[in-house]
Amino acid sequence: MNKYYATTPIYYVNDVPHIGHTYTTIAADVITRFYKQIGYDARLLTGADEHGAKIEEAAKKHNLKPQQYVDQISSEFKQIWDKLNINYSRFIRTTDEDHIKIVQGFLQKMYENDAIDQNPRLYKGLYCVGHEKFMSPEELTDGVCSEHKTKPIEYAEENYYFKLSKFQDQLETLISSDEINVRPIARKNEVLGKIKQGLEDISISRASLEWGIPLPFDNKHTVYVWIDALINYYTYGKEKGIWPADLHLVGKDILWFHSIIWPAMLLSINEETPKQVFAHGFFTINGQKMSKTIGNVIKPEELITKYGVDGTRYVLLSAFPFGEDGDFSWEYLDRSFNADLANGLGNLIARIAKLAEKVNFKVTETTEIFDPLVSQKLKELKFSEALTFIWQDIAALDKKINEVQPWKLETAELTEFLSESSIKIRSIALSLKPFLPETAEKILTQFSGEVKSGPSLFPRIR
Ligand code: ME8
Ligand code: MG
Repeated sequence: MNKYYATTPIYYVNDVPHIGHTYTTIAADVITRFYKQIGYDARLLTGADEHGAKIEEAAKKHNLKPQQYVDQISSEFKQIWDKLNINYSRFIRTTDEDHIKIVQGFLQKMYENDAIDQNPRLYKGLYCVGHEKFMSPEELTDGVCSEHKTKPIEYAEENYYFKLSKFQDQLETLISSDEINVRPIARKNEVLGKIKQGLEDISISRASLEWGIPLPFDNKHTVYVWIDALINYYTYGKEKGIWPADLHLVGKDILWFHSIIWPAMLLSINEETPKQVFAHGFFTINGQKMSKTIGNVIKPEELITKYGVDGTRYVLLSAFPFGEDGDFSWEYLDRSFNADLANGLGNLIARIAKLAEKVNFKVTETTEIFDPLVSQKLKELKFSEALTFIWQDIAALDKKINEVQPWKLETAELTEFLSESSIKIRSIALSLKPFLPETAEKILTQFSGEVKSGPSLFPRIR
Protein backbone atom coordinates (compact mmCIF):
# COMPACT_ATOMS: atom_id res chain seq x y z
CA MET A 1 0.00 0.00 0.00
CA ASN A 2 1.30 3.47 -0.83
CA LYS A 3 1.77 5.72 2.14
CA TYR A 4 1.17 9.43 2.48
CA TYR A 5 2.46 11.22 5.54
CA ALA A 6 1.37 14.81 6.13
CA THR A 7 2.04 17.15 9.02
CA THR A 8 0.81 20.46 10.39
CA PRO A 9 3.13 22.64 12.45
CA ILE A 10 2.96 21.83 16.12
CA TYR A 11 1.45 24.88 17.72
CA TYR A 12 2.90 26.86 20.59
CA VAL A 13 0.80 26.38 23.67
CA ASN A 14 1.40 29.88 24.97
CA ASP A 15 -1.82 30.80 23.23
CA VAL A 16 -5.22 29.22 22.66
CA PRO A 17 -6.24 28.05 19.17
CA HIS A 18 -7.29 30.70 16.63
CA ILE A 19 -8.34 30.48 13.00
CA GLY A 20 -4.71 30.77 11.81
CA HIS A 21 -4.05 27.37 13.37
CA THR A 22 -7.44 26.14 12.24
CA TYR A 23 -6.83 27.02 8.61
CA THR A 24 -3.62 24.96 8.36
CA THR A 25 -5.03 22.05 10.29
CA ILE A 26 -8.22 21.76 8.23
CA ALA A 27 -6.21 21.89 5.00
CA ALA A 28 -3.92 19.14 6.25
CA ASP A 29 -6.91 17.07 7.28
CA VAL A 30 -8.55 17.45 3.88
CA ILE A 31 -5.46 16.33 2.02
CA THR A 32 -4.94 13.35 4.32
CA ARG A 33 -8.58 12.26 4.05
CA PHE A 34 -8.32 12.55 0.29
CA TYR A 35 -5.30 10.24 0.10
CA LYS A 36 -7.01 7.78 2.41
CA GLN A 37 -10.06 7.83 0.21
CA ILE A 38 -8.06 6.97 -2.89
CA GLY A 39 -6.45 4.03 -1.14
CA TYR A 40 -3.28 5.28 0.51
CA ASP A 41 -2.14 4.50 4.01
CA ALA A 42 -2.39 8.19 4.86
CA ARG A 43 -1.36 9.69 8.20
CA LEU A 44 -1.68 13.12 9.66
CA LEU A 45 0.47 14.36 12.50
CA THR A 46 -0.41 17.42 14.53
CA GLY A 47 0.43 18.43 18.04
CA ALA A 48 1.77 20.89 20.55
CA ASP A 49 5.07 22.72 20.86
CA GLU A 50 5.54 22.91 24.59
CA HIS A 51 9.08 24.02 25.42
CA GLY A 52 10.88 27.35 25.31
CA ALA A 53 11.03 30.74 26.98
CA LYS A 54 7.64 31.84 25.72
CA ILE A 55 5.89 28.93 27.41
CA GLU A 56 7.94 29.28 30.58
CA GLU A 57 6.89 32.93 30.80
CA ALA A 58 3.23 32.21 30.06
CA ALA A 59 3.14 29.54 32.77
CA LYS A 60 4.64 31.94 35.28
CA LYS A 61 2.03 34.54 34.42
CA HIS A 62 -0.68 31.99 35.19
CA ASN A 63 1.01 30.91 38.40
CA LEU A 64 1.43 27.41 37.11
CA LYS A 65 4.34 25.05 36.71
CA PRO A 66 5.25 24.80 33.00
CA GLN A 67 4.10 21.17 32.88
CA GLN A 68 0.70 21.98 34.39
CA TYR A 69 0.30 24.88 32.03
CA VAL A 70 1.14 22.92 28.90
CA ASP A 71 -1.14 20.07 29.95
CA GLN A 72 -4.01 22.51 30.10
CA ILE A 73 -3.49 24.37 26.81
CA SER A 74 -2.50 21.25 24.91
CA SER A 75 -5.79 19.67 25.76
CA GLU A 76 -7.61 22.75 24.48
CA PHE A 77 -5.93 22.29 21.11
CA LYS A 78 -6.70 18.61 21.07
CA GLN A 79 -10.34 19.22 21.93
CA ILE A 80 -10.88 21.74 19.19
CA TRP A 81 -9.33 19.42 16.58
CA ASP A 82 -11.62 16.65 17.73
CA LYS A 83 -14.56 19.00 17.44
CA LEU A 84 -13.56 19.99 13.94
CA ASN A 85 -13.38 16.36 12.93
CA ILE A 86 -9.64 16.44 12.33
CA ASN A 87 -8.65 12.88 11.70
CA TYR A 88 -5.11 13.06 13.09
CA SER A 89 -3.14 9.86 13.54
CA ARG A 90 -1.37 11.21 16.57
CA PHE A 91 -1.42 14.38 18.61
CA ILE A 92 2.23 14.67 19.51
CA ARG A 93 3.50 16.76 22.39
CA THR A 94 7.14 17.76 22.68
CA THR A 95 6.99 16.75 26.34
CA ASP A 96 6.11 13.16 25.34
CA GLU A 97 8.71 10.71 26.57
CA ASP A 98 9.37 9.07 23.22
CA HIS A 99 9.89 12.45 21.59
CA ILE A 100 12.41 13.52 24.22
CA LYS A 101 14.38 10.32 23.66
CA ILE A 102 14.35 10.73 19.88
CA VAL A 103 15.47 14.37 20.16
CA GLN A 104 18.39 13.39 22.35
CA GLY A 105 19.38 10.56 20.02
CA PHE A 106 19.12 12.90 17.04
CA LEU A 107 21.33 15.56 18.62
CA GLN A 108 23.86 13.00 19.82
CA LYS A 109 24.19 11.80 16.24
CA MET A 110 24.59 15.34 14.95
CA TYR A 111 27.33 15.84 17.51
CA GLU A 112 29.11 12.62 16.63
CA ASN A 113 28.90 13.47 12.92
CA ASP A 114 30.64 16.77 13.60
CA ALA A 115 27.59 18.79 12.57
CA ILE A 116 27.66 20.45 15.99
CA ASP A 117 30.78 22.18 17.37
CA GLN A 118 32.65 20.21 19.98
CA ASN A 119 32.53 23.19 22.34
CA PRO A 120 30.09 26.04 22.82
CA ARG A 121 30.83 29.50 21.36
CA LEU A 122 30.10 32.76 23.10
CA TYR A 123 27.02 34.22 21.54
CA LYS A 124 25.71 37.74 21.87
CA GLY A 125 22.46 38.74 20.37
CA LEU A 126 19.03 40.23 20.80
CA TYR A 127 16.42 37.57 21.50
CA CYS A 128 12.72 38.18 21.02
CA VAL A 129 10.69 35.86 23.21
CA GLY A 130 7.56 36.53 21.15
CA HIS A 131 9.34 35.20 18.09
CA GLU A 132 11.41 32.61 19.99
CA LYS A 133 14.37 33.67 17.89
CA PHE A 134 17.30 36.02 17.57
CA MET A 135 16.45 39.17 15.72
CA SER A 136 18.35 40.85 12.93
CA PRO A 137 18.66 44.66 13.02
CA GLU A 138 16.10 44.94 10.20
CA GLU A 139 13.48 43.25 12.35
CA LEU A 140 13.73 45.95 15.00
CA THR A 141 12.41 49.51 15.05
CA ASP A 142 14.17 51.82 17.53
CA GLY A 143 15.50 48.78 19.33
CA VAL A 144 12.01 47.27 19.74
CA CYS A 145 10.60 44.21 17.93
CA SER A 146 8.50 45.61 15.08
CA GLU A 147 5.88 42.92 15.48
CA HIS A 148 5.62 42.36 19.23
CA LYS A 149 6.52 45.94 20.27
CA THR A 150 8.67 44.51 23.03
CA LYS A 151 12.33 45.06 23.74
CA PRO A 152 14.37 41.97 22.91
CA ILE A 153 16.49 40.39 25.62
CA GLU A 154 20.19 41.22 25.50
CA TYR A 155 21.65 37.87 25.51
CA ALA A 156 25.23 36.74 25.97
CA GLU A 157 26.03 33.15 26.75
CA GLU A 158 27.82 30.05 25.59
CA ASN A 159 25.83 28.15 22.98
CA TYR A 160 26.42 25.08 20.92
CA TYR A 161 26.29 25.69 17.19
CA PHE A 162 24.94 23.65 14.33
CA LYS A 163 27.19 23.95 11.29
CA LEU A 164 24.40 24.89 8.92
CA SER A 165 26.84 26.50 6.46
CA LYS A 166 28.27 23.07 5.60
CA PHE A 167 24.98 22.16 3.88
CA GLN A 168 24.55 25.16 1.64
CA ASP A 169 25.40 23.45 -1.68
CA GLN A 170 23.51 20.29 -0.89
CA LEU A 171 20.39 22.25 0.04
CA GLU A 172 20.60 24.37 -3.05
CA THR A 173 20.73 21.25 -5.22
CA LEU A 174 17.91 19.49 -3.40
CA ILE A 175 15.59 22.49 -3.58
CA SER A 176 16.34 23.63 -7.11
CA SER A 177 15.84 20.08 -8.40
CA ASP A 178 12.55 19.80 -6.47
CA GLU A 179 13.82 16.78 -4.62
CA ILE A 180 12.59 18.88 -1.74
CA ASN A 181 9.55 20.35 -3.39
CA VAL A 182 9.18 23.83 -1.91
CA ARG A 183 5.89 25.37 -2.98
CA PRO A 184 4.31 27.67 -4.11
CA ILE A 185 6.98 28.34 -6.69
CA ALA A 186 7.44 31.97 -5.60
CA ARG A 187 8.39 30.72 -2.14
CA LYS A 188 10.84 28.26 -3.61
CA ASN A 189 12.56 31.11 -5.44
CA GLU A 190 12.63 33.21 -2.27
CA VAL A 191 14.27 30.38 -0.38
CA LEU A 192 16.81 29.76 -3.14
CA GLY A 193 17.64 33.46 -3.27
CA LYS A 194 18.27 33.47 0.44
CA ILE A 195 20.47 30.36 0.27
CA LYS A 196 22.62 32.05 -2.35
CA GLN A 197 23.29 34.91 0.06
CA GLY A 198 24.99 32.34 2.28
CA LEU A 199 24.02 30.26 5.28
CA GLU A 200 25.40 30.96 8.71
CA ASP A 201 25.85 28.48 11.51
CA ILE A 202 23.11 28.67 14.10
CA SER A 203 22.93 28.43 17.85
CA ILE A 204 20.99 25.35 18.94
CA SER A 205 21.22 25.34 22.72
CA ARG A 206 20.45 27.55 25.69
CA ALA A 207 22.38 27.57 28.92
CA SER A 208 19.98 29.82 30.78
CA LEU A 209 16.68 28.17 29.98
CA GLU A 210 15.48 25.28 32.05
CA TRP A 211 12.21 24.47 30.28
CA GLY A 212 13.57 22.34 27.49
CA ILE A 213 15.21 19.04 26.63
CA PRO A 214 18.73 18.62 28.07
CA LEU A 215 21.47 18.27 25.46
CA PRO A 216 22.65 14.66 25.56
CA PHE A 217 26.32 15.61 25.44
CA ASP A 218 26.14 18.54 27.86
CA ASN A 219 23.23 18.60 30.24
CA LYS A 220 23.95 22.13 31.43
CA HIS A 221 22.26 23.16 28.20
CA THR A 222 18.77 22.67 26.86
CA VAL A 223 17.94 22.24 23.18
CA TYR A 224 16.72 25.38 21.41
CA VAL A 225 12.94 25.03 21.15
CA TRP A 226 12.80 25.13 17.34
CA ILE A 227 15.31 22.31 16.99
CA ASP A 228 13.33 20.22 19.46
CA ALA A 229 10.07 21.09 17.69
CA LEU A 230 11.14 20.22 14.14
CA ILE A 231 12.16 16.75 15.24
CA ASN A 232 8.52 15.95 16.15
CA TYR A 233 7.85 14.98 12.54
CA TYR A 234 10.66 12.47 12.70
CA THR A 235 9.63 11.05 16.08
CA TYR A 236 6.32 9.86 14.68
CA GLY A 237 7.54 9.09 11.16
CA LYS A 238 10.46 7.00 12.31
CA GLU A 239 8.45 5.08 14.88
CA LYS A 240 5.81 4.20 12.29
CA GLY A 241 8.29 3.45 9.51
CA ILE A 242 6.83 6.15 7.26
CA TRP A 243 9.76 8.59 7.14
CA PRO A 244 10.30 10.78 5.07
CA ALA A 245 7.24 12.98 5.34
CA ASP A 246 5.40 13.55 2.09
CA LEU A 247 4.17 16.97 3.11
CA HIS A 248 4.98 19.58 5.72
CA LEU A 249 2.19 22.13 5.58
CA VAL A 250 3.28 25.40 7.17
CA GLY A 251 2.58 29.12 7.21
CA LYS A 252 4.97 31.29 5.24
CA ASP A 253 6.45 32.74 8.44
CA ILE A 254 8.03 29.41 9.33
CA LEU A 255 9.11 28.26 5.88
CA TRP A 256 12.82 28.91 6.47
CA PHE A 257 12.90 26.54 9.43
CA HIS A 258 11.17 23.84 7.41
CA SER A 259 12.90 24.19 4.08
CA ILE A 260 16.45 24.94 5.25
CA ILE A 261 17.21 24.20 8.87
CA TRP A 262 15.16 21.02 9.12
CA PRO A 263 16.46 19.38 5.91
CA ALA A 264 20.03 20.31 6.92
CA MET A 265 19.54 18.64 10.30
CA LEU A 266 18.37 15.51 8.53
CA LEU A 267 21.27 15.57 6.09
CA SER A 268 23.66 15.86 9.01
CA ILE A 269 22.55 12.48 10.33
CA ASN A 270 22.24 10.94 6.86
CA GLU A 271 18.47 10.79 6.92
CA GLU A 272 16.06 11.40 4.07
CA THR A 273 14.65 14.89 3.62
CA PRO A 274 10.91 15.68 3.40
CA LYS A 275 9.39 15.43 -0.06
CA GLN A 276 7.37 18.62 0.01
CA VAL A 277 7.17 21.77 2.08
CA PHE A 278 4.17 23.89 1.24
CA ALA A 279 3.76 27.37 2.71
CA HIS A 280 0.33 28.94 2.80
CA GLY A 281 -0.22 32.66 3.07
CA PHE A 282 -1.25 34.86 5.91
CA PHE A 283 -4.72 36.15 6.29
CA THR A 284 -6.09 39.29 7.74
CA ILE A 285 -9.44 40.00 9.38
CA ASN A 286 -11.32 42.83 7.69
CA GLY A 287 -8.03 43.92 6.19
CA GLN A 288 -6.22 43.98 9.52
CA LYS A 289 -3.55 41.74 10.92
CA MET A 290 -5.07 39.33 13.40
CA SER A 291 -3.70 40.12 16.84
CA LYS A 292 -4.57 40.13 20.49
CA THR A 293 -3.73 43.83 20.76
CA ILE A 294 -6.15 44.78 18.01
CA GLY A 295 -8.63 42.41 19.65
CA ASN A 296 -9.76 40.80 16.40
CA VAL A 297 -8.57 37.26 17.02
CA ILE A 298 -11.19 34.82 15.81
CA LYS A 299 -11.51 31.54 17.65
CA PRO A 300 -12.62 28.43 15.84
CA GLU A 301 -15.48 27.96 18.32
CA GLU A 302 -17.09 31.15 17.04
CA LEU A 303 -17.14 29.76 13.52
CA ILE A 304 -18.44 26.37 14.60
CA THR A 305 -21.31 28.01 16.48
CA LYS A 306 -22.30 29.89 13.37
CA TYR A 307 -21.57 27.51 10.51
CA GLY A 308 -21.29 24.10 12.12
CA VAL A 309 -18.24 21.87 11.71
CA ASP A 310 -18.50 21.22 7.98
CA GLY A 311 -19.58 24.79 7.33
CA THR A 312 -16.45 26.04 9.09
CA ARG A 313 -14.26 23.70 7.08
CA TYR A 314 -15.88 24.97 3.89
CA VAL A 315 -15.89 28.71 4.44
CA LEU A 316 -12.24 28.72 5.47
CA LEU A 317 -10.84 26.65 2.62
CA SER A 318 -12.95 28.15 -0.13
CA ALA A 319 -12.24 31.77 0.76
CA PHE A 320 -9.07 32.35 -1.28
CA PRO A 321 -6.42 30.35 -3.13
CA PHE A 322 -4.28 28.27 -0.83
CA GLY A 323 -0.77 29.66 -0.75
CA GLU A 324 -1.85 33.26 -1.20
CA ASP A 325 -2.60 35.88 1.41
CA GLY A 326 -6.25 36.65 1.89
CA ASP A 327 -8.78 38.52 3.92
CA PHE A 328 -11.60 37.16 6.04
CA SER A 329 -14.63 39.08 7.10
CA TRP A 330 -17.70 37.75 8.83
CA GLU A 331 -19.76 39.25 6.06
CA TYR A 332 -17.84 37.36 3.44
CA LEU A 333 -18.03 34.09 5.35
CA ASP A 334 -21.78 34.49 5.91
CA ARG A 335 -22.33 35.14 2.24
CA SER A 336 -20.30 32.16 1.17
CA PHE A 337 -22.14 29.93 3.65
CA ASN A 338 -25.56 31.03 2.45
CA ALA A 339 -24.80 31.05 -1.25
CA ASP A 340 -22.79 27.86 -1.55
CA LEU A 341 -23.95 25.65 1.30
CA ALA A 342 -27.50 26.69 2.16
CA ASN A 343 -28.67 27.64 -1.33
CA GLY A 344 -26.23 25.73 -3.51
CA LEU A 345 -25.60 22.32 -2.06
CA GLY A 346 -28.34 22.14 0.57
CA ASN A 347 -31.06 23.28 -1.77
CA LEU A 348 -30.05 20.92 -4.56
CA ILE A 349 -30.13 17.89 -2.30
CA ALA A 350 -33.49 18.93 -0.85
CA ARG A 351 -35.04 19.43 -4.29
CA ILE A 352 -33.98 16.07 -5.67
CA ALA A 353 -34.80 14.17 -2.48
CA LYS A 354 -38.29 15.63 -2.42
CA LEU A 355 -39.00 14.55 -5.99
CA ALA A 356 -37.54 11.12 -5.32
CA GLU A 357 -39.59 10.61 -2.19
CA LYS A 358 -42.79 11.37 -4.07
CA VAL A 359 -42.31 8.43 -6.42
CA ASN A 360 -40.57 6.09 -3.97
CA PHE A 361 -37.40 6.27 -6.02
CA LYS A 362 -34.61 3.83 -5.16
CA VAL A 363 -30.92 4.32 -5.93
CA THR A 364 -29.51 1.14 -7.42
CA GLU A 365 -26.41 2.26 -9.22
CA THR A 366 -23.48 3.39 -7.09
CA THR A 367 -20.20 4.36 -8.72
CA GLU A 368 -17.27 5.06 -6.46
CA ILE A 369 -14.77 6.90 -8.62
CA PHE A 370 -13.06 10.04 -7.41
CA ASP A 371 -13.51 12.86 -9.92
CA PRO A 372 -10.11 13.10 -11.67
CA LEU A 373 -10.35 16.89 -12.05
CA VAL A 374 -10.93 17.38 -8.33
CA SER A 375 -8.26 14.81 -7.58
CA GLN A 376 -5.69 16.68 -9.67
CA LYS A 377 -6.42 19.95 -7.90
CA LEU A 378 -6.16 18.31 -4.50
CA LYS A 379 -2.80 16.76 -5.35
CA GLU A 380 -1.62 20.28 -6.15
CA LEU A 381 -3.10 21.50 -2.84
CA LYS A 382 -5.41 23.84 -4.74
CA PHE A 383 -8.27 23.49 -2.30
CA SER A 384 -10.37 26.42 -3.42
CA GLU A 385 -10.03 25.39 -7.08
CA ALA A 386 -11.07 21.84 -6.23
CA LEU A 387 -14.14 23.27 -4.54
CA THR A 388 -14.87 25.45 -7.55
CA PHE A 389 -14.97 22.32 -9.72
CA ILE A 390 -17.37 20.62 -7.35
CA TRP A 391 -19.60 23.68 -7.23
CA GLN A 392 -19.67 23.82 -11.00
CA ASP A 393 -21.20 20.34 -10.93
CA ILE A 394 -23.70 21.47 -8.33
CA ALA A 395 -24.67 24.48 -10.42
CA ALA A 396 -24.96 22.36 -13.57
CA LEU A 397 -27.34 19.95 -11.90
CA ASP A 398 -29.38 22.82 -10.52
CA LYS A 399 -29.63 24.31 -13.97
CA LYS A 400 -30.68 20.98 -15.40
CA ILE A 401 -33.56 20.75 -12.93
CA ASN A 402 -34.74 24.19 -13.95
CA GLU A 403 -34.61 23.25 -17.61
CA VAL A 404 -36.12 19.78 -17.39
CA GLN A 405 -38.79 20.76 -14.84
CA PRO A 406 -38.95 17.18 -13.57
CA TRP A 407 -42.08 17.88 -11.49
CA LYS A 408 -43.97 17.94 -14.79
CA LEU A 409 -42.65 14.55 -15.95
CA GLU A 410 -44.47 11.22 -16.09
CA THR A 411 -43.24 8.62 -13.59
CA ALA A 412 -41.08 6.67 -16.06
CA GLU A 413 -39.29 9.77 -17.29
CA LEU A 414 -38.99 11.16 -13.82
CA THR A 415 -37.41 7.94 -12.63
CA GLU A 416 -34.85 8.16 -15.38
CA PHE A 417 -34.09 11.76 -14.50
CA LEU A 418 -33.72 10.80 -10.85
CA SER A 419 -31.35 7.93 -11.71
CA GLU A 420 -29.08 10.27 -13.62
CA SER A 421 -29.28 12.93 -10.94
CA SER A 422 -28.54 10.60 -8.08
CA ILE A 423 -25.43 9.29 -9.81
CA LYS A 424 -24.28 12.87 -10.10
CA ILE A 425 -25.16 13.61 -6.50
CA ARG A 426 -23.24 10.60 -5.25
CA SER A 427 -20.25 11.64 -7.29
CA ILE A 428 -20.45 15.17 -5.87
CA ALA A 429 -20.69 13.71 -2.37
CA LEU A 430 -17.60 11.58 -2.95
CA SER A 431 -15.60 14.62 -4.00
CA LEU A 432 -16.92 16.51 -0.99
CA LYS A 433 -15.98 13.80 1.47
CA PRO A 434 -12.49 15.09 2.36
CA PHE A 435 -13.86 18.61 2.85
CA LEU A 436 -17.23 17.95 4.47
CA PRO A 437 -16.96 14.46 5.91
CA GLU A 438 -20.22 14.46 7.88
CA THR A 439 -22.33 16.09 5.20
CA ALA A 440 -20.97 13.87 2.45
CA GLU A 441 -21.73 10.80 4.54
CA LYS A 442 -25.27 12.04 5.13
CA ILE A 443 -25.80 12.57 1.41
CA LEU A 444 -24.38 9.18 0.50
CA THR A 445 -26.66 7.52 3.02
CA GLN A 446 -29.65 9.49 1.83
CA PHE A 447 -28.91 8.55 -1.77
CA SER A 448 -28.54 4.84 -1.32
CA GLY A 449 -31.61 2.63 -1.44
CA GLU A 450 -34.91 4.41 -1.03
CA VAL A 451 -34.46 8.19 -1.04
CA LYS A 452 -36.23 10.13 1.69
CA SER A 453 -36.21 13.85 2.08
CA GLY A 454 -34.58 14.94 5.30
CA PRO A 455 -33.92 18.03 7.36
CA SER A 456 -32.10 20.86 5.63
CA LEU A 457 -28.34 20.24 5.50
CA PHE A 458 -27.39 23.88 5.98
CA PRO A 459 -30.12 26.16 7.33
CA ARG A 460 -29.57 29.71 6.11
CA ILE A 461 -28.06 32.12 8.57
CA ARG A 462 -29.20 35.70 8.86
O1 ME8 B 1 5.18 28.67 14.71
N1 ME8 B 1 -2.85 33.51 8.92
O2 ME8 B 1 3.70 27.78 16.22
P1 ME8 B 1 2.53 28.84 16.25
C1 ME8 B 1 -2.41 32.31 8.52
N2 ME8 B 1 5.51 26.21 17.21
N3 ME8 B 1 -1.69 31.50 9.29
C2 ME8 B 1 -1.41 31.90 10.51
C3 ME8 B 1 -1.85 33.14 11.03
C4 ME8 B 1 -2.62 33.98 10.15
N4 ME8 B 1 -3.09 35.15 10.52
N5 ME8 B 1 -1.40 33.26 12.28
C5 ME8 B 1 -0.70 32.12 12.55
C6 ME8 B 1 4.88 27.87 15.57
N6 ME8 B 1 -0.71 31.30 11.48
C7 ME8 B 1 5.86 26.76 15.95
C8 ME8 B 1 5.85 25.72 14.86
S1 ME8 B 1 6.66 23.41 13.80
C9 ME8 B 1 7.97 22.37 14.02
C10 ME8 B 1 6.78 24.58 15.08
C11 ME8 B 1 -0.05 29.99 11.33
O3 ME8 B 1 1.62 28.44 17.33
C12 ME8 B 1 1.45 30.17 11.08
O4 ME8 B 1 1.76 30.44 9.77
O5 ME8 B 1 3.07 30.21 16.26
C13 ME8 B 1 2.03 28.85 11.51
O6 ME8 B 1 1.97 27.87 10.51
C14 ME8 B 1 1.15 28.56 12.69
O7 ME8 B 1 -0.09 29.23 12.53
C15 ME8 B 1 1.90 29.16 13.86
O8 ME8 B 1 1.70 28.51 14.94
MG1 MG C 1 3.97 32.13 15.62
